[in-house]
Amino acid sequence: MSKNTIVVGCQWGDEGKGKVVDMLAEKADVIARFQGGANAGHTIITKDKKLILHLIPSGVTHEDKICYIGNGVVLDLFGIMEELEALKSEGISTKDRLFISSAANLVMPYHKLIDEIEEKKRGGDGIGTTLRGIGPAYRDKISRCGVRMADLYAPERLKKKLEYQKKIKGEYLTGSDDDRANLEKIYDDMIKLAPIFKPCITNVSIDLENHHKAGKSILYEGAQGAMLDIDLGTYPFATSSNTTVGGALTGLGIGPKMIDEVVGIVKAYTTRVGGGPFPTELVDDSGNRLREAGCEYGATTGRPRRCGWLDIVSLKHACRINGVDKIAITKLDVLDGFDKIKVCTGYKLNGETLSEVPLDLSDLWDIKPVYEELDGWDKPTAGLTKFEDLPENAKKYVNYMADSLNVGIALVSTGPKRSDTIVL
Ligand code: GDP
Ligand code: IMO
Ligand code: MG
Repeated sequence: MSKNTIVVGCQWGDEGKGKVVDMLAEKADVIARFQGGANAGHTIITKDKKLILHLIPSGVTHEDKICYIGNGVVLDLFGIMEELEALKSEGISTKDRLFISSAANLVMPYHKLIDEIEEKKRGGDGIGTTLRGIGPAYRDKISRCGVRMADLYAPERLKKKLEYQKKIKGEYLTGSDDDRANLEKIYDDMIKLAPIFKPCITNVSIDLENHHKAGKSILYEGAQGAMLDIDLGTYPFATSSNTTVGGALTGLGIGPKMIDEVVGIVKAYTTRVGGGPFPTELVDDSGNRLREAGCEYGATTGRPRRCGWLDIVSLKHACRINGVDKIAITKLDVLDGFDKIKVCTGYKLNGETLSEVPLDLSDLWDIKPVYEELDGWDKPTAGLTKFEDLPENAKKYVNYMADSLNVGIALVSTGPKRSDTIVL
């Protein structure tokens, strides 16, 4: 691994970023999360225990590492408290090594209420959000009325901001008996939380520059995936942040020269949770088999993930918009035992075959995937740690992915544990 690496998802999220970041963190000094919020669910396995992190960087279980949460993240303080508790019960302390940007916007309880109400209003055409208040929180940020971390330490400013919220969110908040609409209670709760987070508040941009100058190795952790990017994903079935490399720069306040390499995480097949187009989706036995073999149930919401074959066309888009140098291929083991494996190499639209995603990504509803069929392998890859031990057809599959995308391979993951990895 290069010294300063951005790790991003290349599909619709849940590619295995948590596992890969946790594994790569062994060789890094600093891990910094740059966007998204508690919509993310990053699974890591520590000493055979499963830990799902939503906001805290996935390198946190290495107790000699420093973790940052950048200004690009929307922070649910109640959520982060739960994560800190879970870490504590595992005997993991974050004291003096977890830092949060004073400019990070907060997900307030009313954001979650609004997320729920709006999702209901959308009816059958719902985005299928995680209901973690992400859209409403980013909307306030962009409207310049969000509550930031720094406001917790300026009570008068916080009060004023909440009074303004009452004016602009009357439709949702006035007359509601939901606690999440109770701005007086929210103010009191926030003021109580303030001292707990005070030692964590920092200027992340300056800290990271200092680490960089001191020759430290920094791992930048993204959430979600390229196809959920607010600008470049399957809008409006997307999340509300830039999940791609630009998000790392703006979400942490760093320049491009602090980056040596971009590693894109690619699951060996495709999954998606929530609504929206999914060209290679399988609604048959193969899809069910992928879901069960891959335990494809949401780490945040528990929802069954939609499953399908690998989609090279959308992956080319993801690699281009991220400038991916190398891919980390995950969940190869889930394909063990498939006789034939299909890979989508083109999209048929209005009689034409496209090799790139259409400019208007909503056309993805109408395209028909063009498949190439590859031979599967009959020996298991699960748990393998050496490339030469992979069955020949598994080697071919992995190389096919890298060649089609014109990228290198950083690693191949053959199981959920840190050790189930082939490092190349
Ligand atoms: P993330 O959001 O990208 O961090 O991914 P999630 O944690 O939501 O989902 C990935 C799931 O796959 C988790 O349950 C991981 O423990 C699991 N996982 C990660 N890599 C592998 C792998 O190579 N093989 C298998 N079988 N499971 C994996
Ligand atoms: P990680 O980091 C998979 C999806 C939701 C929904 C859409 C918008 O674990 O890969 P939002 O709550 O963000 O407004 O929902 O985005 N989504 C994810 N899908 N993995 C995630 O995160 C996701 N975060 C959001 O399912 O379709
Ligand atoms: Mg996830």
